[in-house]
Amino acid sequence: MAEPLFPDWFFDRADPGLDTAFYGPPRLVTHIDEGAIAAVGDLYAELSVEGEVLDLMSSWVSHFRAPPRRLVGLGMNAGELAANPVLAEHVVHDLNVDPALPFPDAGFDDVTCCVSVDYLVRPVEVFNEVARVLRPGGRFVVTFSNRCFPTKAIRGWLATDDRGHLQIVAAYFAAAADRFRDLRGERRPTPPGGDPLYAVWAHRSSGDGPEVDRDRPTA
Ligand SMILES: C[S@@+](CC[C@H](N)C(=O)[O-])C[C@H]1O[C@@H](n2cnc3c(N)ncnc32)[C@H](O)[C@@H]1O
Repeated sequence: MAEPLFPDWFFDRADPGLDTAFYGPPRLVTHIDEGAIAAVGDLYAELSVEGEVLDLMSSWVSHFRAPPRRLVGLGMNAGELAANPVLAEHVVHDLNVDPALPFPDAGFDDVTCCVSVDYLVRPVEVFNEVARVLRPGGRFVVTFSNRCFPTKAIRGWLATDDRGHLQIVAAYFAAAADRFRDLRGERRPTPPGGDPLYAVWAHRSSGDGPEVDRDRPTA
């Protein structure tokens, strides 16, 4: 029998209650400092995340330097999402109750998820769903720092350090089988003494036929 990818306790949380209770009150705050926020925007600009984009686990700020052509937000708090000036539309959806994304296949050029991946209790299902809603060649860009709501983060995340967090997110991508390719993970430049910013991203595989790489010119 195949070894389970993650031990039983990995996705336990100190507060196992419904996320709707925890995220009920709007939090119009930032979760990382200015330098780390700028690093998220720099990464999106560097990767040209500028088309039709889904911001997963979104709130009132999405950190883009320039708004993408169409940004859709999915999160837990309607007030926070309504206050986000860049969102063209938003949906309140609990990914820990239902990891299925309420969007059609191949509807987005890119998907982002900022400082939130540590709250997912069924991440591999979510990553598979992200692959489904991405167009071939589109990127899933996951960023995180070293802060969290500890009662809502999974035990596996709390049990390790920044390097371990990079490995955890890389493992989620890998567990989504052949649906992603060209995985990258790195610490991004931020001002000294401030919050660090880490990013892991990969391209959605085309699934059949020759791979299409949006970043490379075609002949
Ligand atoms: C630390 S905040 C980050 C918000 C935003 N991405 C940012 O960069 O500031 C965590 C976000 O994850 C969302 N979230 C937490 N649990 C969730 C769940 N089960 N399903 C969907 N979204 C969730 C919350 O709505 C909240 O906006």
